[in-house]
Amino acid sequence: MPDLHNKRIVLGLSGGIACYKSAELVRRLVEQGATVDVIMTDAATHFITAVTMQALSGRPVFTDAWDPRIPNNMAHIDLSRGADAIIVAPASADFMAKLVQGRADDLLSTLCLARACPLLVAPAMNREMWSAAPTQRNVAQLKQDGVSVLGPAAGDQACGETGDGRMLEPSQLLAELIAFFQPKLLQSKRVLITAGPTIEPIDPVRVLTNRSSGKTGYALAKAAREAGAEVTLVSGPTALPTPHGVLCIQVQTAQQMHDAVLAHVKQQDVFISVAAVADWRIENIATDKIKKDHTTNKSHTPDLKFALNPDILATVAALPNAPWCVGFAAETERLSEFAQAKRVRKGIPMLIGNLAQHVMDADHTTVSIFDEHGEHPLPTSAKQDIARQLIAAIAARLPNKK
Ligand code: C5P
Repeated sequence: MPDLHNKRIVLGLSGGIACYKSAELVRRLVEQGATVDVIMTDAATHFITAVTMQALSGRPVFTDAWDPRIPNNMAHIDLSRGADAIIVAPASADFMAKLVQGRADDLLSTLCLARACPLLVAPAMNREMWSAAPTQRNVAQLKQDGVSVLGPAAGDQACGETGDGRMLEPSQLLAELIAFFQPKLLQSKRVLITAGPTIEPIDPVRVLTNRSSGKTGYALAKAAREAGAEVTLVSGPTALPTPHGVLCIQVQTAQQMHDAVLAHVKQQDVFISVAAVADWRIENIATDKIKKDHTTNKSHTPDLKFALNPDILATVAALPNAPWCVGFAAETERLSEFAQAKRVRKGIPMLIGNLAQHVMDADHTTVSIFDEHGEHPLPTSAKQDIARQLIAAIAARLPNKK
């Protein structure tokens, strides 16, 4: 099921060049199952047309409080009452000032004042306008009034300057909106996650690694962030983008992953060890590429010496004041027996087990939770859905105080 299934969103556009990004946003919202009503201020119509937004949302777009298509002239009430959230993107400095003052001199500001649903704003403006004292006062006041302020980001601006004030990208706004609707089961908790494979060099061009796409670990990072946690992700090499709002530390080898985890483990509430850590590394790494022997017909095989890598999860679980630890186990047979034994051996309260051959690289997965009470299988589902269920299962088991 798409993440915004059955959600009704009012998307407000005030005047700013970032209006062009809102065309992409409306598309992404619709893709995720939302019904989107677009409202534009007069200034917004100078940057993008209502026709564009209407074509993308598939619904009438309103730009005027006196639109004759509104039979009772109550668009501000009707639209707000049916909505699950209003998001104003872009929110100009002027529009935020109006929100702070409670002014209602056009359809969008009237709708925001008359709303009976949450309001989110995505500021977009020049860096000097953003850092100006009145804007900063207004942003602080909006937050105090319960408005969610998304961004802004820093970077190149349409005016040619560089700094804070860029509107978040459509994919980031979508992630924020999806997160907004998720229950805040891990509010203010700190969660450390490892994901992906590690790669262990053999020589400058060859490596030893495990098969791991990183999808489950990244999905858990996203789900934990959606649940309100502050998330640090220590990741081996993957092709995945860092989930919005997650601090990602990139590593290559198991030793680097171990060091990064230990550097960040202090004051974490939860540690979720999803990474497929290579069990061994090569002790005699060659400084130059190992050559095949071309002078004889005999096949030449290198004499590799293996050393055991540190067990990151077991190390963290044994720390004084250890975070609440969750492990993963991909087995190829006798899942229940091996997974439960692994949980006990590692000294952790919860372990997620699956049959490796069923899920490797896939977008869907079938897992069971193992804890002191036994095995709890979850139905096969998309990795992101499973990740949300696992976060809920962790939150339900997490002791109140460490
Ligand atoms: O049996 P194994 O040690 O591979 O158990 C898998 C679990 O242990 C996973 O949670 C994995 O992330 C973690 N692990 C680890 N460090 C290792 C090997 C596995 O943290 N060196």
